[in-house]
Amino acid sequence: MEKLMRNFFLFLSKNKVLTKLAKKYGLRFGAARFVAGVDIDHAATKIKEINEKGYVVTIDHLGEFIDNEKEARESVEECIHAIEVIDEQKLDSQVSLKLTSMGLDVSEELVMKNMRDILDAGKKHGVTVTIDMEDHERHRKTMDIFKELKKEYENLGTVLQAYLYESEDDLDELNEFNPYLRLVKGAYKEAPEVAYPVKKDVDDNYKKIIKKNLLNGNYTAIATHDEVIIDYVKELEEELSLSREQFEFQMLFGIRKDLQKKLMDEGYKMRVYVPYGNDWYGYNMRRLAERPANVLFVLKGVFKK
Ligand code: FDA
Repeated sequence: MEKLMRNFFLFLSKNKVLTKLAKKYGLRFGAARFVAGVDIDHAATKIKEINEKGYVVTIDHLGEFIDNEKEARESVEECIHAIEVIDEQKLDSQVSLKLTSMGLDVSEELVMKNMRDILDAGKKHGVTVTIDMEDHERHRKTMDIFKELKKEYENLGTVLQAYLYESEDDLDELNEFNPYLRLVKGAYKEAPEVAYPVKKDVDDNYKKIIKKNLLNGNYTAIATHDEVIIDYVKELEEELSLSREQFEFQMLFGIRKDLQKKLMDEGYKMRVYVPYGNDWYGYNMRRLAERPANVLFVLKGVFKK
């Protein structure tokens, strides 16, 4: 049943009509549980509050699968504006983005130009930018673009997904760049030809790539709400005598706040991924797929006046 629900929500997450409707209706149906606000001003207020509690942040202007130059440019301008606001308001925040919102599906030339504009702004204002990893169809292109840009920009990181069979090879491929890597389990619906279909295999591979990246000496952001994985990282910390300068934990805004606080109280660096904007539909559907019990929050939102 859980698997059926997961597939159902992942299927819904790519529906373009529902995406457009969601944009029109604003943060409704419980969306505000996972999204910090519709614009950067609302998000900046939230980030300040989160920073004051002792967490660091990465901000994400929601948007994905854009298919035209005009909308991609709007996303770029929004991202640059967010970088300026982070600097002006002295927020402790990085920026996360999706290449499909920067024109990946339009042309390579466009996405490279847009990314250079954003990374130049990041460099000027001292803000690190991380490229989220999207579905497998865009995986190779994302890896290649990351490698190309990483030659020019220090302030750039990306994400590897443990559910992909090739994630360990990717890690080896990126090692020479001494990369800032966020490691996740993976959130999209992928075929068994490219991704482990069984959760236990994903979890085992996740542990494997976390350990390997730490042993490689690369900065590692472990982005998970899974306590078993978090305990494993704590064991590694002891076993490998890791410095806490080499890794951090990351979680999504609105999810497992108790665990976020616990880790911060234990002295770990805890980064909260804070999405904002009106294109919340695909993001929220993936959160429902991860935990269908969240549907209860959505239903409450539907019936709330
Ligand atoms: P898992 O799904 O096994 O969940 C473990 C436990 O966490 C659950 O039992 C539950 O308690 C809690 N939990 C998990 N999801 C929840 C939810 N939605 N609501 C409530 N509780 C929940 N993916 C991707 O493909 N590309 C990317 O670029 C990113 N980027 C990214 C950044 C950050 C900071 C995070 C935290 C995650 C991502 N992800 C991602 C998403 C990631 O791939 C994965 O889908 C989610 O983190 C859920 O998996 P967990 O590792 O939490 O484990």
